[in-house]
Amino acid sequence: MCGIVGYVGKNISVKKILAKLQNLEYRGYDSAGFAYIKNNNIVCRKKVGQIVNLINATNDQEQADICICHTRWATHGKVCENNAHPQVSYNNNFAVVHNGIIENYNQIKEKIGINKFSSQTDSEVIANLMEEISGAIETRFFEMLKKISGSYAICLIERSSKKLYVAKNKSPLYISQTEDGYFVASDISCFEGNDYYSLEDGMCAIIDKDNLKFYKDSKPCKLQKTKNIYHIDDIKLSKFSHFMQKEIAETPQILFNIAKTYSKLVETIKYKNLFNNIKNVVLSGCGTAFHACLLGEEWINDTYNLNARAYIASELRYKENIIDKNTLVLLVSQSGETADTLAVMNMAKEIGAKVVAMTNIEYSTLAGGADFVLPLCAGQEIGVASTKVYSAMLAVFYILSTKNAKNTGCFNKIITFSRQISAKFDKNIIEIVQKSKRVFFIGRGYDGITAQEGALKLKEITYKDACGYYAGELKHGTIALVDENTIVFAIITNKNIAAKTLNAVEEVCSRGAKVVVLTDQNLSGNFNYIKLQTAADEKLAAIAAVLPLQSLAYEVAVKCGFNPDRPRNLAKSVTVE
Ligand code: F6R
Repeated sequence: MCGIVGYVGKNISVKKILAKLQNLEYRGYDSAGFAYIKNNNIVCRKKVGQIVNLINATNDQEQADICICHTRWATHGKVCENNAHPQVSYNNNFAVVHNGIIENYNQIKEKIGINKFSSQTDSEVIANLMEEISGAIETRFFEMLKKISGSYAICLIERSSKKLYVAKNKSPLYISQTEDGYFVASDISCFEGNDYYSLEDGMCAIIDKDNLKFYKDSKPCKLQKTKNIYHIDDIKLSKFSHFMQKEIAETPQILFNIAKTYSKLVETIKYKNLFNNIKNVVLSGCGTAFHACLLGEEWINDTYNLNARAYIASELRYKENIIDKNTLVLLVSQSGETADTLAVMNMAKEIGAKVVAMTNIEYSTLAGGADFVLPLCAGQEIGVASTKVYSAMLAVFYILSTKNAKNTGCFNKIITFSRQISAKFDKNIIEIVQKSKRVFFIGRGYDGITAQEGALKLKEITYKDACGYYAGELKHGTIALVDENTIVFAIITNKNIAAKTLNAVEEVCSRGAKVVVLTDQNLSGNFNYIKLQTAADEKLAAIAAVLPLQSLAYEVAVKCGFNPDRPRNLAKSVTVE
């Protein structure tokens, strides 16, 4: 993870450059730093915590014509100024910002001499290798790249050369020219609508204020510009207090967008042929995206005569004999940059399987590498906890698992449903959750998966001890944890098995737990209620049920005084393995 920004051009305010870095804060926010060149010396400043701490430590008058900055999500070494980036070389000649992991850093460190290192990071080897190699800076840079292995987006400066040395392998990196000069960044959100170059793996660039040169294998090469389709409004809060709140509220509009987009997409030959000559469907993703895959698995199996199965990407990538060349590998990822999901893509491509990407980011590595893209049409998701995109994933799986979607009223059902959904619930519940020691989410069938997603959302932003279970499983062990300090959310959207989930409700009530039932049925009992709107299809009910759970997590986090957009230890884009 981590976000990097590099700049070379006119003399501009350092704060202006840091404002760009703030667009990348979703990639990591435990510490931040910058380095620029002044009188042939490297000026470097770092602060622990969010970028605002660094901005507050920066003078309004401070200017730079070359600068590198970084926002960190710690991998190697604890969170402290020493381990924050930029990392400066032992003779103060080079400074580097890095996103990714240098896998052979220990060997390099030992070779150079441990005493020449001042941080616990893997990244410091990049700067120190530049000191160790002799020759012109350009040659040293190419040689240094040959010596490191792993994933990296690198932006490096040398104290006398006024050039940015940039390289990319498996971590995203983009370059754009603006009126001020050239910017390098981990995400195109920093480019304010300007077109950009998307570096390919193994590519480098050397940039000064007037020139941008690309290299592959140390030799000059060319790269085409890409049109910037980024919507700047997505990164504005407007009337909302947090992005998570804004993004949950955007769900109806996104469902509408999906219905409109897919009513055309399903007519394309590529879409129609998706399942042709396919025996097995493997669905894969991580975290929330994996929960969407679990529902996708159920829905595809219920519709087609196919064997669909969902796998956690970080597990699947080490399993042999699951994917063959007749498998359709459907990879689900909001960011399209999740390292484990990309590793599955590479594995599937090597085997010769057909790869389909369901992603929200059309310019992502996943979208670029797939044979076909199922867009999620949700706009940028800034809040670290995925909300609107989860609902988008379910809507796309709903379409995908509807045979002949165009003629079944599927799109109209989504549009009608999008106008009815609500994330509201009785605010008293927030306080009960806040006071409870333990929170369980239970359900059967599709609701069992919603239960897991509800629990993930709550624990990641409120740090509550929360778990999602299939309701029938509770009595096989976990019920031992249930007592009067427990609150149980029971999700019931399937009439046929409602009575069975209610049995579990009775069992936890008997052990003193408080219970909230989320249902679109007419049920009565000694419990609190969240009434869900009735969906025209049981699959859409999964979206109706998850929305109040997302809102619940949000409200509890705010009530506890936590920032729901920036949960501890997490980052939006998990680009490490
Ligand atoms: C949880 C959450 C994560 C992501 C996971 C995969 O709210 O957001 O669990 O779902 O890190 O990320 P993507 O979808 O970008 O591959």
